[in-house]
Amino acid sequence: MANSAELTVDGKTYSFPTLEGTEHEKAFDISNLRDQTGYVTLDRGYKNTGATKSAITFLDGEQGILQYRGYSIEDLAAKASFLEVAYLLIYGELPTQEQYHTFENAIRRHTLVNEGMRTIFNGFPVNAHPMGVLASMVSAMSAFYPELENGKEEDKTDLHIIRLLAKLPTIATWSYKRSMGHPTNYPKNNLDYIPNFLNMMFALPVEEYKVDPVVAEALNVLLILHADHEQNCSTSTVRLVGSSQANLYSSISAGISALWGPLHGGANQEVIEMLENIKADGGDVSKYVEMAKNAKTTGFRLFGFGHRVYKNFDPRAKIIKKAADDVLAKLGVNDPVLEIAKGLEEAALNDEYFVSRKLYPNVDFYSGIIYRALGIPTNMFTVLFAIGRLPGWIAQWKEMRETKEPIGRPRQIYTGATLREFVPIENR
Ligand code: CMC
Repeated sequence: MANSAELTVDGKTYSFPTLEGTEHEKAFDISNLRDQTGYVTLDRGYKNTGATKSAITFLDGEQGILQYRGYSIEDLAAKASFLEVAYLLIYGELPTQEQYHTFENAIRRHTLVNEGMRTIFNGFPVNAHPMGVLASMVSAMSAFYPELENGKEEDKTDLHIIRLLAKLPTIATWSYKRSMGHPTNYPKNNLDYIPNFLNMMFALPVEEYKVDPVVAEALNVLLILHADHEQNCSTSTVRLVGSSQANLYSSISAGISALWGPLHGGANQEVIEMLENIKADGGDVSKYVEMAKNAKTTGFRLFGFGHRVYKNFDPRAKIIKKAADDVLAKLGVNDPVLEIAKGLEEAALNDEYFVSRKLYPNVDFYSGIIYRALGIPTNMFTVLFAIGRLPGWIAQWKEMRETKEPIGRPRQIYTGATLREFVPIENR
């Protein structure tokens, strides 16, 4: 028998259906709450609000489980390629060999970015943050691919998906090259997705560049780990913007902007800067743990620690921590901040403040150390996160459209002035 929940308010009792997902998480369906009772719910930061039903990603924050379309993150990170995972997220199943070939080939053939977009790009200051540039350039794509119109792109969705997946790495490398004063590289379509990105990042016209397979594999794992994370801030942004039937490029551009914030994807840059500060300050991690414990007065948080949903180890952080050891060893890199990071983790995990609040290292804690070992500069870390998260954003946008979700439009509890009379300016 279906469960229901009863609510008694103002002397009347109302009944609301409950529902259960395939992995047994439960919800009250309050779609008719306001119509029936005249009340809305108040849930700042959406800590208890299921905004949608979704069949893409499952995560259990208490047990530290993450699955894309039913496949564990551990399995995918160990065995899949990033584009296979992208296909899985977007189309729901792992591709057959033929489907993969078609998908990958289409992406290869769309890597070139309209030359007209360089005019916009060249207008940015050389030292502009690459995340701001990326969001703007993706937004500009909607102008450069004019067959796309808000609300009417359904028949061309696959083409736009391919374009975004293909062009985002190309655009991302432009900012880096410009900040270095180096010429930008064109994509090389004989290269696979990740080697192509690395070649655009690091090749110079004056010498031969060979992609190191250790670097390519490390990046493959990192991109897979970032590929989706259900209804996080940037994904919810993509869905909310898309729910007004704004086009795919505009929706993804909004997601990139949301990701940039230091409490979200921008944390990976903050982590490295924090570790560098600790190093420069003599390496005393306990001092910083104390500062974080007094966040209310110091305003300092341990970046890369804590998560809205994980109240146990972030499974991605476990994989990344091990990968950091492996990659640095294979590349022969000795980065002193890795030891500082481990010391900080140990000190925090043994501290009552962090234990009682269930604050563990998150995905951003060790990722920057690997990016740095791969030669990726700090201000590009969040861009790498965006390249990884793109398939998730696309999958969620597509699902939202296909399930014909209504426009997202929360309510509020108004706390401002009640009705008052206008006073002409000469009387104020
Ligand atoms: N350092 C010190 N204290 C913390 C931290 C931290 N990193 N994170 C949370 N707390 C404390 C917080 O002060 C609060 O304490 P109290 O109950 O005494 O007021 C308690 O833990 C709960 O924190 P919250 O801010 O209510 O939790 P939230 O779910 O709203 O925030 C978070 C989650 C990720 C924004 C937060 O943990 C944080 O700011 N972490 C640092 C930034 C970071 O690493 N972000 C990346 C998140 S993972 C990847 C991604 O999403 O992009």
